[in-house]
Amino acid sequence: MTTKIPARKNLKNISAYVAGKPIEEVQRELGLTRIIKLASNENPYGYSQLAKKAMLAEMDQTAYYPEGMAPALAEKLAVKLDTKKENIIIGNGSDEIIRLLTRSYIAENDEVIMPDVTFPRYETNVLIEGGSPVLVPLIDGVHDLDSMYKAITDKTKMIVICNPNNPTGTIIEKAKLEAFMSKVPKHILLIIDEAYYEYVNDEEYLETIPYLEAHPNLVILRTFSKIYGLASLRIGYGIMQPSIIEELVKVKDAFNTNRLAQAAAVASLEDDAFVKYCANQNQLGKVYLQTELSKMGLEYFPSHANFLMIKLNQPGKEIFEGLLKQGIIIRSGHLLGYDDTIRVSIGSQEENEEFIQALKIILN
Ligand SMILES: Cc1ncc(COP(=O)(O)O)c(C=O)c1O
Repeated sequence: MTTKIPARKNLKNISAYVAGKPIEEVQRELGLTRIIKLASNENPYGYSQLAKKAMLAEMDQTAYYPEGMAPALAEKLAVKLDTKKENIIIGNGSDEIIRLLTRSYIAENDEVIMPDVTFPRYETNVLIEGGSPVLVPLIDGVHDLDSMYKAITDKTKMIVICNPNNPTGTIIEKAKLEAFMSKVPKHILLIIDEAYYEYVNDEEYLETIPYLEAHPNLVILRTFSKIYGLASLRIGYGIMQPSIIEELVKVKDAFNTNRLAQAAAVASLEDDAFVKYCANQNQLGKVYLQTELSKMGLEYFPSHANFLMIKLNQPGKEIFEGLLKQGIIIRSGHLLGYDDTIRVSIGSQEENEEFIQALKIILN
C-alpha cells in the first residue's frame, strides 16, 4: 500500500490546468497526420524571420546562463513602449508574472476580485497562496466594472482585469476603464492583462501605459506568445512601478527566461511588418468566420482578439469531440465556464474554411 503524503491544504481543491490539446497528442490518439489546432490562440503565421536569425546566432551561447533580468529586451521594450526599463520585468510567459504577483502579494484570506469567466490562471494562483478569489460575473461577456468596484472590501488586495477578455474577446469601453482606474484605492494592485493587445483595432480600447505614473498600483501584462508567435519559448512581460518589480524579483527564478527566447523577443520587436501582417490577416479571418457563422444562424461574442467564442444550442463538448474526430482541435466551453459554447482561435484562411466546413457537417 502506498501512503499519500499530504500536500499543502491550499492545493486540495485545485486541479491541474487543462491546456488546449497538443497536436502531437491528437496525432498519437487518432492516428491522423493532418491536424488543425485552433485551441490555444496561437499564431497561424508562425514568427518573425528576424527572430529565427537571432536565435540561430545565439545558439552557440547555450552553455552559458542567460542574463536573469533580460536587460537588452527590457531596454528595447522601454523604447518601443515609451516607458523606462526600470518599469519592465520579463517573465517565463506572462503566466509567470501572474504567479510572481500572487506569490509576492497574496497571503491567506486576501481577496482578489476578477471577472467570471476569464483566464483561469488568476484564480488558480490566488488559491495556491490561500487567497480568496472574488468572482464577479461578466455581463454579455463584458467586465461588470460597477459590480467589481462594489466587491471591494478591507480584504481586497488585488483586482484583475483581462482586456480583451479571454475567452469572450470583449474589451472594456475607454471611459469606463479610465474611471475605474481612478476610483480603485491605490493600496489595491490593479492588474490589467493585455495578452491580446496587438490584435485590438478599436478606438474604444484604452492605452494604459500612459496611466502608470498617475496610478502607481497599475500592473500591465503583455506577452510574446500571441501575435509574436513565440508561445513555446515562454516569454512575456509586465509593466509596473519599480517598487513592485523589486518584490517580484525576490520570488522569481534567477534564470527565468532562456537565451533563445530573449534573443527572439528582441529581434521580433524590430519586425513591425510581421506584426501588422498578422493583425490584418487576423481581422480578415475574423470577418470571414463571423460572416459564415451568421449565415449558419450562430451567435458569438464580439471579439477583439484572435479567437471567437461561439454560442451553441448544445454542449460545446459534443462539438469539440466531433471536430476532434476530423482532426480539428478547438476548446470546449465547458472548460471555460460556458457549457454551450466553443472557443475557436482564428487560423489561416485555409484552416478557417476547414473549420467552418467541419462545423457545418456536425451541426447538420
Ligand atoms: C489572457 C491571457 N493571459 C495570459 C496568458 C498566458 O500567456 P503566456 O504565459 O504564454 O505569456 C494567456 C494565454 O493564453 C492569456 O490568454
